[in-house]
Amino acid sequence: MGLKISFSSIVLLLLLTRVVEGQPGVFDVTKFGAKPDADIGPALVSAWKEACASVTPSTILIPKNNYALSQVLFEGPCKSSINFQIQGTVKASGDPSAFKANGPGLPGWVTFEHVDLLTVSGGGTFDGQGATAWSKNDCQTNSNCAKLPISLVFNFVTNSVAQDITSLNSKNFHLQVFGADNMTVQHVTITAPGDSPNTDGIHVGRSTKVTINDTQIGTGDDCISIGDGTQQLTIEKVTCGPGHGISVGSLGKFPEEKEVVGVFVRNCTLTNTLNGVRIKTWPASLPGSASDMHFEDIIVNNVGNPVMIDQEYCPSNQCSKKAPSRVKVSKVSFKNIKGTSSTQLAVKLLCSESIPCENVEVGDIDLAYSGPEGPPTTICSNVKPIFSGKQNPPTCVGGSQSS
Ligand SMILES: *[C@@H]1O[C@H](CO)[C@@H](O)[C@H](O)[C@H]1NC(C)=O
Ligand SMILES: *[C@@H]1O[C@H](CO)[C@@H](O)[C@H](O)[C@H]1NC(C)=O
Ligand SMILES: *[C@@H]1O[C@H](CO)[C@@H](O)[C@H](O)[C@H]1NC(C)=O
Repeated sequence: MGLKISFSSIVLLLLLTRVVEGQPGVFDVTKFGAKPDADIGPALVSAWKEACASVTPSTILIPKNNYALSQVLFEGPCKSSINFQIQGTVKASGDPSAFKANGPGLPGWVTFEHVDLLTVSGGGTFDGQGATAWSKNDCQTNSNCAKLPISLVFNFVTNSVAQDITSLNSKNFHLQVFGADNMTVQHVTITAPGDSPNTDGIHVGRSTKVTINDTQIGTGDDCISIGDGTQQLTIEKVTCGPGHGISVGSLGKFPEEKEVVGVFVRNCTLTNTLNGVRIKTWPASLPGSASDMHFEDIIVNNVGNPVMIDQEYCPSNQCSKKAPSRVKVSKVSFKNIKGTSSTQLAVKLLCSESIPCENVEVGDIDLAYSGPEGPPTTICSNVKPIFSGKQNPPTCVGGSQSS
């Protein structure tokens, strides 16, 4: 017994002496050659390799200062938990061609992949230097457009947390969470101008048990977009604006999409956003399913179409509206949604003609609209909502518009 303890103590001692000066388990990037205002990519990757090989929990530290950071990939699996502490500001290259995709998807600037027990925190900032790239973004009209990088990518990350960080001016999405199981994003600040293209705040796809809590998002596209295969996503205390709102979808565009099950959005405030809370699917789509989606205790300030199901989603006419959507939307509730609409049409529930929405509940809606056309309205098609509580605008009669 005594022999065992002293043996393991020696092993531990040997391990600790491997750690470059300073506190045990702390991999300070400046000890790996990182210098302010220079590219710290290679130093950070070296620090990651050592931290990832450590059998005891480790911290990677980016101290307070400004640094440049080239495209980096932090790959697991690692031998123990990693606390990625960013206290400083890292800036991406302004040149979009400096980022290469690592597979068929979009490139990431900073990518964490196949990591368990990761914490990214520290109060620092990831500055994507998007301004130079936004002007080159022609993806609305050119399907072969340049693939701009997502600032922070979490691919197949499990039991992890991203908190107390800022994402500024991403070239494409700010954060992507894909293939995650049990991940929390909290106290995060996301900022980009309202007219910056495709700068979604947080995109979640193919993930289970993700929580987004206490987060502020002002950006040029969806504050949060929810892709196929998302299950048990909770969004709480998020403020959104400017931006395009909180969206499930768009769904039905690509083959083999997985179903969305369990989306809970509560206690969120949206201000000056193009849309509110919505579910969107393409017409003439492939089959799919989205169910158990609940939007509750939402405050909207000057928001377009605050409550929306749109199964005829077709931006810039990039689709055929000739056939209905084949994505089945069911078990949806919109409850306690209050504030002001910037469009007369405040509640828009357009479901598929071939697969009508099922089990849609709309309760305690109080939306004001003050335009010359008159009071706010509701439109419904291919849905028989169950209304309850206060209804302003007045409820629809299936298929027709109310006023
Ligand atoms: C989820 O991840 C957190 C953070 O690592 C961890 O504390 C928690 O135990 C995990 N939950 C489950 C059910 O594994
Ligand atoms: C969000 O954070 C608050 C504390 O700020 C906590 O009470 C709440 O449980 C969290 N929500 C989720 C879904 O984790
Ligand atoms: C959540 O929203 C409800 C209803 O608007 C409100 O009573 C409650 O105080 C809110 N909770 C938090 C933590 O913001």
